[in-house]
This record gives sequence, C-alpha cells and structure tokens, in this order.
Amino acid sequence: MKIACVGAGPAGLYFAISMKLRDPTHEIEVFERNAPGVTFGWGVVFSDQTVENLTANDPPSAKIIADEFAHWDDIDVHIHGETITSSGHGFIGIGRKRLLEILQNRARGLGVVLHFEAECDPQDPKWRDYDLVIASDGANSRFRDAHADAFGVDIDVRRNKFVWLGTSKVFDAFTFAFEETEHGWIWAHAYRFAADCSTFIVECSEETWRGIGFDEMDQGESIATCERLFANYLDGHSLMSNATHLRGSAAWLNFRRIKCERWNSGNVILLGDAAHTAHFSIGSGTKLALEDAIKLAEVLNRPVLSLEAAMDEYVAERNLEVLKLQNSARNSTEWFETLHRYLHFEPLQFAYSLLTRSQRISHENLRLRDREWLEGVERWFWKRATDGRSNKTAPPMFAPLKMREMRLENRITVSPMAMYSAEDGTPNDFHFVHYGERAMGGAGLVFTEMTCVSPEGRISPGCTGMWKDEHVGAWKRIVDFVHANSKAKMCLQLGHSGGKGSTKLGWEGNDLPLDDGNWPVMSASDVPWSPLNQTPRPMTRADMDAVRDQFVTAVRMGLEAGFDMVELHAAHGYLLSSFLTPLQNKRSDEYGGSLENRLRYPLEVFAAMRAAWPSDRPMSVRISANDWAGDNGITPDSAVKIGEAFAREGADLIDVSAGQTWADAQPTYGRMFQTPFSDKIRNEGRLATMAVGNIYEPDHANSILAAGRADLVALARPHLIDPFWTLRAAAQLDYRDVHVPPQYLNGMAQLARNLKREAEAAAALRV
Ligand SMILES: Cc1cc2nc3c(=O)[nH]c(=O)nc-3n(C[C@H](O)[C@H](O)[C@H](O)COP(=O)(O)OP(=O)(O)OC[C@H]3O[C@@H](n4cnc5c(N)ncnc54)[C@H](O)[C@@H]3O)c2cc1C
Ligand SMILES: Cc1cc2nc3c(=O)[nH]c(=O)nc-3n(C[C@H](O)[C@H](O)[C@H](O)COP(=O)(O)O)c2cc1C
Repeated sequence: MKIACVGAGPAGLYFAISMKLRDPTHEIEVFERNAPGVTFGWGVVFSDQTVENLTANDPPSAKIIADEFAHWDDIDVHIHGETITSSGHGFIGIGRKRLLEILQNRARGLGVVLHFEAECDPQDPKWRDYDLVIASDGANSRFRDAHADAFGVDIDVRRNKFVWLGTSKVFDAFTFAFEETEHGWIWAHAYRFAADCSTFIVECSEETWRGIGFDEMDQGESIATCERLFANYLDGHSLMSNATHLRGSAAWLNFRRIKCERWNSGNVILLGDAAHTAHFSIGSGTKLALEDAIKLAEVLNRPVLSLEAAMDEYVAERNLEVLKLQNSARNSTEWFETLHRYLHFEPLQFAYSLLTRSQRISHENLRLRDREWLEGVERWFWKRATDGRSNKTAPPMFAPLKMREMRLENRITVSPMAMYSAEDGTPNDFHFVHYGERAMGGAGLVFTEMTCVSPEGRISPGCTGMWKDEHVGAWKRIVDFVHANSKAKMCLQLGHSGGKGSTKLGWEGNDLPLDDGNWPVMSASDVPWSPLNQTPRPMTRADMDAVRDQFVTAVRMGLEAGFDMVELHAAHGYLLSSFLTPLQNKRSDEYGGSLENRLRYPLEVFAAMRAAWPSDRPMSVRISANDWAGDNGITPDSAVKIGEAFAREGADLIDVSAGQTWADAQPTYGRMFQTPFSDKIRNEGRLATMAVGNIYEPDHANSILAAGRADLVALARPHLIDPFWTLRAAAQLDYRDVHVPPQYLNGMAQLARNLKREAEAAAALRV
C-alpha cells in the first residue's frame, strides 16, 4: 500500500514502523510541519503494560526506549504546608523529544521516508494518490476539522488553564504541589523524565489565571511568575518553555477533550490525538496513540480482511479502550476543576482523594502499592469516626457513624426497595423474613421500602403502608426482631406516590397503570408520567394539608413501631419529587416556578415530620440529584441547594439518588455512577450524604468513604441476592470485629478461611 502519515508525533511514526514491520513492501511517507527535534512539550509517562505492548510489537525500539526510562515510585502531595508521600506507584517516563528521535531513527531504518518542515494542507489533491492518508496530526488536526461532519467531531473545551513547562530541577517523586494565592489556588504536576530534566505543568482555574494577571503577561513574565509561586519546590532552578512559537498568554491552553463518532472517511483514517484525547492528568495520550498504531497496523495487514472489515475491528476494539480511558480522564479532569470541594480536607484525605480521583485506582489498589500508607489512612479514618477513641487499622466501611444519638455499627446500608408484597399496606411474613435476614447479614442500617402514608399514596396495591393501627403492630414485629437479633438500625422510608401511583406490581410492568381498580392520583401539576398513565389532579392547598398530616401521623406510628430513623422520600418522580422538579411542577402559585417555591411544600412536610420525630433520632431525605435533562431539570448544582434547604430544616443525611423523574431520561450509567452527586453535595454543601447506585464491591465502598465522597454507602440490588453482603465483605477483607449472629459463627469462620485460601492461590498464580 502507498501510505501518507500526516504528522510525525508518536502516532504517525509508530504506525509507520508497525506497518513496515508487518510488510516491508508498503511505501510509507511521513510529513511533519516542524523541523526534526522541534517539539512542544517535555516528558511523557507510561505504564508497564504499555511497555509490554511495545516490546511485543517491536523489541528493538522498545529496548532503547525502556533503557532510557526514568523510573520513580513515590507520589508527593504538597498541600497546606504538609507533604504526604505514598509509594509503590511505579511510573516510567521519557522525554518526548528523545522518544520521537528514537522512533524517527527506527522508522528511517525500516525504509520509511520522513519529510520535515512540510506543512500539509488537507485540500491538496495529492492526497488522492495515496491508498491511505493517516491523519496523525494531533489534537488540532486540520485533516479532521476539514471533514468535521464526516467524522462526527465532538470537542469539549475544559475550563482550567494549563501551561506545559520544563525544569532542570530533578524531582525524585511524581509531585503535586498546591499553592494558595490571593486570587485562588494554583498547582503543579511535576515529574522527572531524564537524568537532568523534569516536566512541570502548571494549572489553575480561569478566575485565578486572570486574577494573577497571566492573561496580560508575555511568556517570560508568565514563567517568572510561576517560578516565584513555586519557588519552594524549584530550589533555585528555572522553568523553561519550548512553545516558543506561541506568543504571550497563548502558551497557556485549555484542554480540549476530543471524541469522534467515526475514525475514517474516504481514504483518511484518524489516529492518536486527532481521533481522541485524554486529559494530561492521567498521562495516557501517548499510550493511546502508540496502541492505536499497533492495532491499526495489525488489522490492515491481515490479508483476509477488507479495508472496511479491518476498520470495523479496529474501531470496535480501540473505541472501548478509549472510552474507558476517557471516562477515567473525565473524572480526573473534573477533580482538578472542582478542587475547591476538597481543600477543607485534612492533607491525608486530600491526598487519598487525589490518588483515587479517576476511579481507576481504588482502596485495595492503594493497599497493594503501599500498605503502610493505606493503613495510615485507615487509622486516620477510624480515629475521626470515633472522636479519637479508636486506633484501629481496618476498612472504612466497618467504622461506626453517629447521627444524633443513633450509633451505626458500620457504613453499609440496605437501600430502600419496594417489595410489592403487602396486602392493604400490612407487611407480612415475607417482609419479616426479608428485613430480618438483611439485618442479620451485617449491614449497619436497613431501610424499609417506600412505605406509603395513605392507600391512595401507594405506588401499587402491594406497597407497604403506615396509615392504620394494624401497620404499627406488623412493623413493630419486624423492628423488634431486627433489634433483638442484629446490630442493625432500621430506617422507615415514608413516601407518597403522587402521579406515579396506581400502577402494577414491579415485576408485572414498571409504572404501568393497573388493568382495573385504578384509583385517582394527584401531583404537583397535571403532568402525566407517560401517555399511558392517568393525568393527575394538581394538589389544592387542602390536599397539601391532608397529605402533610398523613406524613406526620405516619411518623408518630413509626415511633410507636420502634424505628430508629425516618426518611422522607422526595426522589424518583413521586409526590414530593413532583414539586421539586420543574419537569413535573408547572404551578404558577407560590409552590411552582423558582427552586425556592418548588421546595416550599416538600420542606413544609419535612419540617412537620421533624417536629413529630424525637430530636435525638436522625432523619434523612432522599432526593434525585439530577433529572438527566440538562438545564431543563434539576442539575447537580441545584441539588446542592436542595440538600442545604433540607439540612436547615433538620435533615441529618441527604440520601443522594438520581433520575426517575421523567419517563424518557437517559442516565449516564456505570460503576458508582451517582456517587459524583453525593461527593458534590457533601463537599460543596458540607452535608452528610449517602451514596447509592451501582456500588457493588467492598472496594467501591471503602474508596468512596475514605475519599470523603459520602458518609454512608447504600446497596440495593446486591442485597436482593446476597442479604449477607456485609458479612461476606468482612470475611473477604479479614475483618474480625463484625457482629455475626452466634448461630452463624461457624459459617463465617469457614467462609473467611476459604476466601483467604483462594486469595493466596490467586496471588501465587500471579507470581
Ligand atoms: C500538557 C500535556 C501533558 C501531556 N502529558 C502526557 C504524558 O505524560 N503521557 C502521555 O502519554 N501523554 C501526554 N500528553 C499527551 C500526548 O502529548 C499526546 O496524547 C500524544 O502526543 C499524541 O500523539 P499524536 O502523535 O497523536 O499527536 P502529536 O504528538 O500532537 O503529534 C502530531 C504531530 O503532527 C504535526 N502536525 C500537525 N498538523 C500538521 C500539518 N498540518 N502538517 C504537518 N504536520 C502536522 C505536529 O507538528 C505534531 O508533530 C500530554 C499532553 C499535554 C497537552
Ligand atoms: C426492586 C427495587 C425496588 C426499589 N424501591 C425503592 C423504594 O421503595 N424507595 C427508594 O427510594 N428507592 C427504591 N429503589 C431504588 C434503590 O434504593 C436504589 O437507589 C437503586 O436500585 C440503585 O442502587 P443499586 O444499584 O445498588 O441497586 C428500588 C430499587 C429496586 C431494584
């Protein structure tokens, strides 16, 4: 094949090498606008896995690269005058200039023709003469932008400013240095990539950048200012820029996250940064470019594959990898963009939060990297959880939590789950076994399902209720059993279904109206849940009084039944949620319109419940922190205000769920997908929160808690099939102080032994 590579960055050069290695008859030319040796940027970091991939693809160039790597293990985080050092991170780095030099030499040696100082114009007709044109022309690709529609380009310009500098100061550790100025915080990401040189990336918010005056400085002044701000770390060494072609403040950039729906069009194939970028804070851009190059060369040289089939395979495999990295990169980018959330953390927790920011590194990964450091974090967590009384080194999920006078044994909760199995609201033997078993399974807090304050307030005919005497006795039997046979506390979730009421049992069809026997429903406004559901009656003030009083009666009954805590369900599109979300609330009175107005009735109900509930027992509220409807609905920003408003009325915990507030919402689903909202509400509103949503590993729970993203972790579906989730986690983590019902002690010991043996066998296999 006759191939042109536009751009001699890592992607273009390594693709040319990889093609020639597979078939030396390919005619390959690489065109680069710069002269050899002129490049933007300093060092790049790699993982061991990337080095293995390079070695498998081209051992000679991999050996030269690996021999020149700078290695380092430690990460130093400098914050609030302290340095937190953790180890075992195993980085390798190399200068970008040197990497390109090695690749250029290797490419030349294999017969690739390199043209330097050759600016390429996508409109030039000469590109038609090539079988393939590889657009490896970087993040600002002209070849991509010339056909932006064909590639489905999506560019997200991120908010922080950064500048990529170098220094002769040799950093022994990967260094994050955070400095406070009168205009806000500014920080550096610094690492050594050669015996005498380090990368030094400076980053800050746009406000801080303007406040310091970087927007009006030329490059020399910018560098001098950074040298002054980071003098404590530079030991007299100067900072340098090699972006000499960029004038004035232009050396400062905003990171551009690039995604493309399609990676080829006509004879042009996008490769590396031209197709996708990953934020520099996870250091994976070069890795992606090199691995793209290997895979593309591999599929193009498989004789049985047509070009179309080769591209399909290439895109299918690489797209998944890119998506995973872009997800992690987004988390990492957002962490730095929302730094203000974490600045009140103590330095140790701040460092933990920084290290786990992308969600690629978890609690147990950190244990493998640096056990001693991680145990220090665990001791710190337990000390704080016990007001300094405990010196325990144990997983955060087993630390107690006190809310008012209620003390939870641990941080795991069974999330509320409707069981649709009651008759006329009365919980029965199913509920007795269901809740009893989950309490014995070790969770610190067990929520009831949404228990309805009136027959019309039920979602389905199978919902439990709290509106008549019989309910009190039936619930009391369950609560008494839980208190007598476990250490779990019980929280009564109270709700009213609103416009989502009068529907079938969950497994007969979600949110579908009953075949017969429907009852009239009411809501904030006459907005039906879907075209299939009833149009609700907008609530009158008399309805509001009646429902508020029903909630208060239910609270009193909950007290009689012995519950430890009460939660108001104001999420998921049910009655109170229909007031909060502008998607359902179309009222023009003082209960509709502004957020303040939409909060008015839910807060009134909450305050009345709080007044009826003993002041030594906690209360929570469940909210949907995101309608997944952009600015048309509740956004995470408004959720912080909602959380704060309930906290002012005496809520001790915000139970942070999301969505289910309109029928066609498309949530961005994934591991721990709602936890960022809990993080935001907790750390911007400084409120206690519970995270929920696709949290299923003990490692998830420990990472969330230690990083201060929530105070409690709720699991719903995992508890449906494994009521003993917490005890299993204790066995897995070898935590011995968990309460086990005495009847089950033998089983617990056996499980712990078996899991330990399995873990040892797996570790031996890895060695
Ligand atoms: C601040 C910062 C820090 C980074 N740190 C790391 C890190 O630690 N680890 C890591 O792996 N990645 C890092 N990256 C990302 C990394 O630099 C890129 O992902 C990587 O270089 C992508 O390789 P590429 O070949 O696709 O593009 P590039 O390296 O950008 O190469 C594109 C080449 O095309 C040339 N070119 C462009 N247009 C034309 C044209 N019209 N005609 C001729 N030539 C043209 C350019 O001059 C350039 O040489 C960082 C990026 C930034 C911005
Ligand atoms: C069967 C079932 C019933 C549910 N019922 C309720 C409920 O009554 N009240 C409530 O607030 N959330 C309810 N939820 C939502 C869960 O509490 C939880 O927020 C959601 O399932 C996400 O957590 P998970 O990924 O751990 O399952 C229910 C979820 C399931 C699976």
